[in-house]
Amino acid sequence: MTPPHPAKFGVAVLDRIEELVAKECAGIVPYRILDPYAGVGRVHQLAVPGIIETVGVEIEKEWADEHPDTICGDSTRIDELFAPESFDAVITSPTFGNRLSDHHNAQERCKQCGGKKVFAGKTCPRCGGEGKNKYRRITYTHSLGRPLTENNSGAMAWGEKYRAHHRLVWSKVLPLIRPGGVFILNVKDHVRKGEIQLVTLWHCGVLESLGLKLDVDDMCNVNVPDMRFGQNYDRRAAEGEWVILFRKPYVD
Ligand SMILES: C[S@@+](CC[C@H](N)C(=O)[O-])C[C@H]1O[C@@H](n2cnc3c(N)ncnc32)[C@H](O)[C@@H]1O
Repeated sequence: MTPPHPAKFGVAVLDRIEELVAKECAGIVPYRILDPYAGVGRVHQLAVPGIIETVGVEIEKEWADEHPDTICGDSTRIDELFAPESFDAVITSPTFGNRLSDHHNAQERCKQCGGKKVFAGKTCPRCGGEGKNKYRRITYTHSLGRPLTENNSGAMAWGEKYRAHHRLVWSKVLPLIRPGGVFILNVKDHVRKGEIQLVTLWHCGVLESLGLKLDVDDMCNVNVPDMRFGQNYDRRAAEGEWVILFRKPYVD
């Protein structure tokens, strides 16, 4: 049985992506889409036989095996898999650097017995005598049930290693898009130690520095539809997921 995946494209995200693709693909057959972080392959729901082709790259074999059009590979070397300008669109959701990337096995002491395994002279009823809190951890590592493969960003918390990984992958992915094509990014901020971590803004900055063009009207927060970055950007927005369209300019 395939191990569960903790962060598939949600329905609202895919609906928004579908709207964007419907406009973009008009008159281009086949319209070719690449997802360099394919997970269990929800990107393939965009495929239309003979009209829209989708290709995924996923580093973990168990998840890649979920769809025949997903290649098991490492996107830090994606330039070795595809020819330059061979896709009309890259559509992807990288990992977000949030708690889903936790990968340690430390467990908290049971709150009732304080780790003593015994409460009021009997086996602790809360932890069943294990002395640790019982809960199912939802992370990439715990969902897969084994350590992640090296270079899986799913073990990288928001920080310099996460940023270096994505700078590298984006720099290798963008040449695979034809001029005039698009990059559709699904990403999310999170709150850590009471502070909003501006992961989304960071990705936007890197993609723009690599030459993509962003129009703020093409930014949609699927949970908070009218939300924009700026003064009103708050905790509410950090809870929502962004779907952002960037365009690769034509060369003169
Ligand atoms: C947010 S999930 C994407 C889920 C996907 N949109 C879906 O619907 O199933 C990110 C995925 O990227 C994969 N990943 C992380 N680092 C990778 C790398 N270097 N190369 C390829 N895949 C990678 C992770 O294993 C994870 O499945």
